[in-house]
Formats: sequence, structure tokens, C-alpha cells
Amino acid sequence: MSAYVVLARKWRPAQFKDIVGQGPVVRTLMNAIQAQRIHQAYLFTGSRGIGKTSIARIFAKAVRCPNVSVGEAGLQSCDNCPSCREIAAGNSVDVIEIDGASNNGVDAIREIRENAKYLPSSGTRKIYIIDEVHMLTTAAFNALLKTLEEPPSHVIFIFATTEPHKIPATILSRCQRFDFKRVTASQIQGRITEVCTAEGLKAEPAALALIARAAEGSMRDALSILDQVIAFSGQKISLEGTRESIGVIGSQATLGILKGILGRAPLDALSLANAAYEQGHDLKVLTRSLIEFLYGAILAKVGAQPPAVLETSADEWKEIQALAELRPLEELEIIFQVLHHGIDSVSRSSQPKIVLDILLIKCATADVLISADAVQQTAAPTGSSGLKTATTPSVSTATKPAKTQAEQASTAPPAAATPRTWEGFVESIRKNKPMLATALEYSVAAELPDLTQVQAPVFKIHFSADDSYKRDQLQARAYRDDLDHLAKDYFGRPIVVQVVISENAGESMAAKRDRERKIKENHAREAVFSNPIIREAQALFGGELGPIEITEGNAP
Ligand SMILES: Nc1ncnc2c1ncn2[C@@H]1O[C@H](COP(=O)(O)OP(=O)(O)O)[C@@H](O)[C@H]1O
Ligand SMILES: [Mg+2]
Ligand SMILES: [Zn+2]
Repeated sequence: MSAYVVLARKWRPAQFKDIVGQGPVVRTLMNAIQAQRIHQAYLFTGSRGIGKTSIARIFAKAVRCPNVSVGEAGLQSCDNCPSCREIAAGNSVDVIEIDGASNNGVDAIREIRENAKYLPSSGTRKIYIIDEVHMLTTAAFNALLKTLEEPPSHVIFIFATTEPHKIPATILSRCQRFDFKRVTASQIQGRITEVCTAEGLKAEPAALALIARAAEGSMRDALSILDQVIAFSGQKISLEGTRESIGVIGSQATLGILKGILGRAPLDALSLANAAYEQGHDLKVLTRSLIEFLYGAILAKVGAQPPAVLETSADEWKEIQALAELRPLEELEIIFQVLHHGIDSVSRSSQPKIVLDILLIKCATADVLISADAVQQTAAPTGSSGLKTATTPSVSTATKPAKTQAEQASTAPPAAATPRTWEGFVESIRKNKPMLATALEYSVAAELPDLTQVQAPVFKIHFSADDSYKRDQLQARAYRDDLDHLAKDYFGRPIVVQVVISENAGESMAAKRDRERKIKENHAREAVFSNPIIREAQALFGGELGPIEITEGNAP
């Protein structure tokens, strides 16, 4: 059996037409050769595995080939002459490849300069390909610059680098620069599909799409991943096998865990996650695939088509659709938020397995988070106050509209035996004269005079300077008359109400009510914060606790 040649090497493009992508670079170089307008120095920049070295060799071959031809597929070297064959075999004395990373010193460059003076051993051009050129030392760059300033006419330099910003401007200015682009996923998929066909491999398109995506723009990486998948699953490349071999957790495991979550079966979710963990799967990857499938479930729930990024088979999509039926949309979204927020904790934690387990339990029991009842029972500060909180991402609180104190008071007028107080008076008029009552609420009443002792007692109410506009309101004729009448009715005899502004008026009824409400809210807030369910929800959602409203009376 012959030695296995890795696909990236076996499938190195031999001609311009075999290059995937890089259209502008390829066209410009072909034109330059045809027009015989070849620069003395080229700079190829771009990330790894996108064709820089391949194109440098194809270009060198075409420049030197005496039988170069131009056809429908563009410019082509013959691949048959001694020069073409030597270059293909990597032993041409006139095409010299130098690794700039290991030959980065000034001596190496001096040697190149010496060597470059001599004419090529055959043909008219001598080509130096210096890879990783950014690794050269400053002295080496200076030496190189001297050569570039007065290059022997038979010499062509091609520099390649992933880090062009590290190259001195003096060098850059003497090169024709080409910025290579990452290869798109669909271009990669097209190429590896060709490779599979030529290699006699049977591959599911979805598997190749997954590989193309995983390669992140690098054709070399795509071919290396394909090697890895072949080593794992042999001549038949399935989506499932591909997922497993490149460390993407299998869809069946993911769907199983998701079913445990959505079916409120935390133990199922835990044991499947544990199995994946024992098989050596990365827990962050696992969480990510759960998120992706849940995303699919949410789309299924709203009737969307399977999203392309999921690469699901038709059967898998059916399973996802069935899972989506297990919960209302709202809950699916909340579970999505929990997982999405939790994935960082999984990857950051020194104990990712524990974090993931808790996360799974949270998700599988997410209805507890959504229901307000559980919160209400443990968090209500007093027996009479109802409290409801919705654990949406911005953990805001919702409540039924609170009954105002007024509504309650108006239904409960003071009984006959009750002592007649200023507060009682204000409440008694609220129903029929709400505006007047509201104005009076901002007043502070001194002790009521002994009504039995004085004929026409004068009664002073105070307003603070801030509330002086209330005083002005009360000075209006209509209010005054009302006030006198109503006071007489309530207290059983005429009373002169005097309205004054004072600096230290004291606490008005309105101020007192506000203060008491604040205290209640603070109690409620504390209770909510100390509630373990809310705290967990907050930790998971990362939300803020919104304003709390107290429902007076019995909780709904
Ligand atoms: N644009 C491309 N078209 C086709 N194959 C490519 C392309 N880029 C890279 N490859 C594949 O990846 C391998 C490495 O490419 P290479 O040209 O050495 O990349 P670079 O020099 O940019 O790192 C090649 O042998 C080939 O199999
Ligand atoms: Mg290279
Ligand atoms: Zn040739």
C-alpha cells in the first residue's frame, strides 16, 4: 500500500484554473504574463491556507514555461517541460523557496543576494519565493531592500505573509501587493465535493457543508478536516460521523438532551449530557449545539423553514418540530435565554460539568421560574401584600393595578363613634370632591381645637413652601365655600379653616403615605432579592430587578 498523501498536498492546484476564489489575483497575474509586464517583486498577503504558496508556484511555473498557452481555462503552463516538472517536484534550481521564519537573519538574505546575481541555469527568469517574510530581522530587511533597489533583471521576488503590517514601508513600496481573500464556505464545499468524487468517497452534502463551515475560510483546513473525517469514518462520510469526528456532538445526543429539557425530565437530560461528557465531548461545544437546536425549535414553532446553519437532515427537522410542541413559544425563548447566558459560565468555570448540570436542571424546570406563584408564596413580605414578578431577561416586575388608598377609604367612611380627625375629614370628602381632597392631602394639620369649647374655632392647616400652589388652589372661592360647608357637615359645627405656608410644616398625609409605601417596597425588594428562585433567575438571565409594585389587600 502506498503511503497516504494528505489531501491538502495531493490537491495542491497545479494551474490557475484550479484555484478556487482569488479571482482578481489570478486574472492580474495571467494578464501580466501574457503582456510580458512582470514586476520584480510581488507581495501576497492573507490568512493561512488560501492559496498564496500555490499561486506563487503556479505563477513561477507559467513565467518559466516555454510552452505556456492561453485557452478557455485561461493561461496554462505545459506541466511537461523540464522546468514545469522540476518545479512540480520541488527541485528546481531556478525557483527557490525560502522559509522566512527559519532564514530570517541578515546572512540568509546576503546569501540570496549573492545567488541572485547569477543567471538562471535554464530559461530567462529566476524566482525567489520567500514565505513568512514578516519574520525577517531589521538587518535582514535592510539587506533585502538593497536588492530590491537594484534587482538583477532576471530575478523575480514573491513574498508571502499573513502579517503584512510587520513589513517595513520601504519594502512594501517596492512590491506589487495582492491581498488574498478567505475562501467562502460554499466555494470550499464545492471544492471538497469535487475532491470526494475524485477520491471515490461517498459523502452526504450536509457533512461537507459542515466541514466547509468548520474550516472558517481556509481551504487547507477544510482538506485537513476531511482527512480527519475519512480516518474516522472511512469511505462513507455521514453528517453524524462528521459531527463526531470534528468534535461536534452528535445530533441524537443533542436532541435527546433537548427532549429532556423541554419534556421537563431533568434526569434524562443529565444522564445524556453525562454520557457525552464521558465520551470526551467539550461541554461548551455541547451547550452550543443545544442552543443551535433550540434555535431550530423556536423557528419550527413559528413555522419557519429549517435554517441553513443547522445543517439538519429532514428527519432531524421533524424531531425538532416535535420537540417544539412540548412548550409554548414564550418558554422556549426563556430557556434559550438561560442557555445562551449560561454558555459563558460553562466555558469560564473551573468546573464546567457542574455548571452545565445545574444549567440543564434550570432549563428542565424552567416553568418554576416563569410562574409567579412560587415566588409569591415565599417572597411576599406580609400576608396581605401580593407580589408578582416576571422573570424575563430584564427581570422586571409586573402586578395587577394597585387599589389606591382612596378607593378603599371611600368605601369605608368613618363610623359615627369614631373621633373626627382632620385625616378622617379629608378621606370623607375624597369621593365627591377628589380634587379638593388631593389638595388637602398635602397639608399638615395641627391638633384639632376642642370643638366643644369654641363657638367658631379657627383651624390652621400648613403647607410647605414646595406645595404652596396647593394653598393657592384652596384660596379660590369655590374651594373655600366647599371647604367650609363640608367641614361643618363633618365636624358637626362651623369651623374656620386657615391655610398657611410654613417652613417646618411637618409630614403631610401625602408624604406619609409615600414614605410608608417606600418602606413596604423596600421590604418587598429585600424579600425578592433573598428569594432563592429569583436570585437564580437573576444570575442566569443577568437581568436587573425592575420596580416593584405592591398590591394592597389580598393577593390575587
Ligand atoms: N484558493 C485555493 N484553491 C484551491 N485549493 C487551495 C486554495 N488555497 C489553498 N488550497 C489548498 O490548500 C493547500 C495549501 O494552500 P497554500 O497555497 O499553501 O496556502 P497559503 O500559502 O495561503 O497558506 C493547497 O495545497 C491546496 O490543497
Ligand atoms: Mg503558504
Ligand atoms: Zn512547461
